[in-house]
Amino acid sequence: MATHTPAHSSTNAPKRYLVTSGLPYSNGRLHVGHVAGAYLPADTFVRYLRARGEDVRFICGSDDNGVAIEISAMQQGKTPQEVSTHFNGRQARDFAGLSIEFDVYGGTHQPAFQAIHERLSQEFFRNIHSKGYFSKKKTKQLYDPKAARFLPDRYVEGDCHHCGSHTRGDQCDNCGQIIDPLLLKNPISIISRSPAEVRETTHWYLKLNDFEKPLKEWLESKQGQWRTGVLNFALGQIKQGLPERAMTRDIAWGIPVPLDDPDAAGKVLFVWFDAPIGYVSFTAKLCEDRGEGPEAYKKWWADPETAIHHFIGEDNTVFHTLIWPAMLMADARHQLPTQVIANNFLNFRLAGSDEKVSKSKTPEDSPVWIEEYLKKYEADALRYYLTAIAPETARTAFDPADFVNRVNGELVAAFGNFVNRALTFAQRYFESRVPSSAAMNDMDRAHLAKAAEALPKIGALIEGCKFRSAIEEFMAYTRVCNEYFGLREPWKTRKDDLPACAATIATCVHTIQWLAVMCAPFLPTTAKRICEQLNIDPATALRWGAPKLLPEGHTLGTPAILFTKLEAASGEGPKG
Ligand code: MF3
Ligand code: ZN
Repeated sequence: MATHTPAHSSTNAPKRYLVTSGLPYSNGRLHVGHVAGAYLPADTFVRYLRARGEDVRFICGSDDNGVAIEISAMQQGKTPQEVSTHFNGRQARDFAGLSIEFDVYGGTHQPAFQAIHERLSQEFFRNIHSKGYFSKKKTKQLYDPKAARFLPDRYVEGDCHHCGSHTRGDQCDNCGQIIDPLLLKNPISIISRSPAEVRETTHWYLKLNDFEKPLKEWLESKQGQWRTGVLNFALGQIKQGLPERAMTRDIAWGIPVPLDDPDAAGKVLFVWFDAPIGYVSFTAKLCEDRGEGPEAYKKWWADPETAIHHFIGEDNTVFHTLIWPAMLMADARHQLPTQVIANNFLNFRLAGSDEKVSKSKTPEDSPVWIEEYLKKYEADALRYYLTAIAPETARTAFDPADFVNRVNGELVAAFGNFVNRALTFAQRYFESRVPSSAAMNDMDRAHLAKAAEALPKIGALIEGCKFRSAIEEFMAYTRVCNEYFGLREPWKTRKDDLPACAATIATCVHTIQWLAVMCAPFLPTTAKRICEQLNIDPATALRWGAPKLLPEGHTLGTPAILFTKLEAASGEGPKG
């Protein structure tokens, strides 16, 4: 393809890309905040890379171990396995419904993945242990005397020792900082709701302080490449000093601590230790399933020619920029991430105020839950809206009224309308064929040239993970298309200058090919539907680059409305 240039401008362009999305806990339904943070931008990025012909693997799966799932199971009177397998399936359906297509959707405790995940996680633990990066310490821990058990961070609540707001005991919901549960003010057990007390237990702590210097150097080398908010947060944490973090837990659900030490009996790995290893173990399972052998995953994880991109939500930043990289440094057998793309939270605007989407507060049938959304609306409409309001540098909110306005005003009125007007015109007056472009004039050529300018701009923005600007650029071009149609007035030239009319419609058809290419990473279903209406093969027509222009006389498909006009939101939020 003429316009194909390497995805990285430097000569050391990656040979292949491994893209991951943060593993969702398998104890609940997915909502728009999850999708906008870690999944949709990653899927858009992957689709773009694939359209360029890059070698990409897109990895995800559920985060099944740990306390969050144990707590949900306890509350529902089920086993953690039942709960996690149930939600793993529902989440996978949500992703499929939104055309978020992973190469593998695993799960750290799902039957098909559990063995390989446990083996690789234990290998990491033993290797880091043998290198002396854990300190085994008797420590004090919060204990629930009523329930007769130790309380992992997540089983306690109290007031944050950084900012004072009420929080869970692992990480502050409000200020994002790591919590030391022993420093929590007024700790209570969430099992019995009674005050927690302090007792002694043994755990293995990762000596994060040993990695302050290499982490700092590594993060500083990312300046100019990573989002500044992410870098500043991580560097700020290092400045404060990185406390040792316990990588083992006193719970029953998880991966057994693989040490021949009586003190390790009955303990499991901390979920944040094994979860990111899920990226590796799911890759390994994928390679095995594709018959590439048990070592093939190393090509993706240990070859510097592979670029590794982690897409996450803001609350995962500490783990992906500090703890996981420190684990990788300690283990020293794999590569560090090339990029960590963190998005801010996406709230839900309800009756004028922005709320966090939550199981308890958000109405069960609200369209912010993906399952509910998909009952009523099309996937691409949400993909469009969530990209247009992407919380890339600050928190934003899903506003049902704004959703309707933007779908109607932008997708329906600008993009869909242009495509439909032009193709209906071709159907009606040119026997559903591409008309002759013989009479093309400078204005027609200039219009096509604008498509050729827009495409690389959009591509560069996607590469820079500026998805919001990328989709704005795309929308701007659809408006130019409508203007062009209006200025050329084919409904008039049809009567007094047929060659000009033919050239206008031919130009529009070519333009629509460009639009399909440009929108495909964002709106994959729409791109395929355009291909149907143009009667071209999406497998070749949607490659990123100048589309091969359709010859005069090519038979087009049947025009159809691309986007459904939505009714003003009702019941779900503020009215129009
Ligand atoms: N389950 C975590 C969350 O939802 C994310 C885990 S990301 C991984 O916040 F890297 F650990 F897998
Ligand atoms: Zn706080």
